[in-house]
Amino acid sequence: MELDGLDKMRLPQHVAIIMDGNGRWATARGKNRIEGHRRGKTSVRVIVEMSRKIGIRFLSLYAFSTENWYRPDDEVGALMTLLEHYLAAEQAKMMRYGIRLLAVGDRSRLPASVRGALEKVIELTSANQRMTVVLALSYSGRDDILRMVKSLAHEARAGKCDPDAIDEQTIAGYLDTAGIPDPDLLIRTSGEMRISNFFLWQIAYSEMYVTSCLWPDFREKEYLQALLEYQRRRRRFGRTDEQLDEIVEPSLDAGGRQS
Ligand code: FPP
Repeated sequence: MELDGLDKMRLPQHVAIIMDGNGRWATARGKNRIEGHRRGKTSVRVIVEMSRKIGIRFLSLYAFSTENWYRPDDEVGALMTLLEHYLAAEQAKMMRYGIRLLAVGDRSRLPASVRGALEKVIELTSANQRMTVVLALSYSGRDDILRMVKSLAHEARAGKCDPDAIDEQTIAGYLDTAGIPDPDLLIRTSGEMRISNFFLWQIAYSEMYVTSCLWPDFREKEYLQALLEYQRRRRRFGRTDEQLDEIVEPSLDAGGRQS
């Protein structure tokens, strides 16, 4: 894959993707929706490999939302099976490429076999340092925030945390994404202009890129386009252009803080 035009010095550190359009891809071809998810799994593999190749440090994938539990049982079952197969098939590659796997979301709702497979790969890859893949599974932004508030409230009640000392860093540290930098770039496929309860706190200053391309068709060329578009943007983090001219841009993190 030609990476012509991509500035290696200005890559997003964290890319988050709302993978949408598997169902429509299948329906348009007279196929079962599950066939779309199967094809979508190949896109996952391709995008993980390309991210690793170009040096993206964090890649988050919205693979199954809290709301997806309401889909028909056979579709939920098929998605869980695909996930389990993906974990089994990709673990060797993750080790070879130095990829660490993390998961965000309410893992307790996953079937035991998926949870077991997930925990095994998370443990196996825990020391890998080249790239981190974050799978959002049984995840929603509001649920993440809800669980964070409950944890903080319990800590406060137990006298382990002073409510007046809570700041943005405290909150970030209690979310599922603790320790993961905020996404610099949020990609959504299939053209919908929605966040769909994905990362809410974390995307405060993310650049958004929406493409009409359906997820099963989102491959190297489309990903490169998204990255090139990101590099054409100027992230201001609420500041003025004149202020930014005085700051060396890479010294701002994804939350707009100057380091
Ligand atoms: C959205 O398409 C996609 C999902 C709900 C699931 C994403 C799952 C995969 C890409 C496959 C397996 C994942 C991994 C990590 C191996 P949709 O069904 O909402 O599409 P539609 O909006 O066109 O109906």
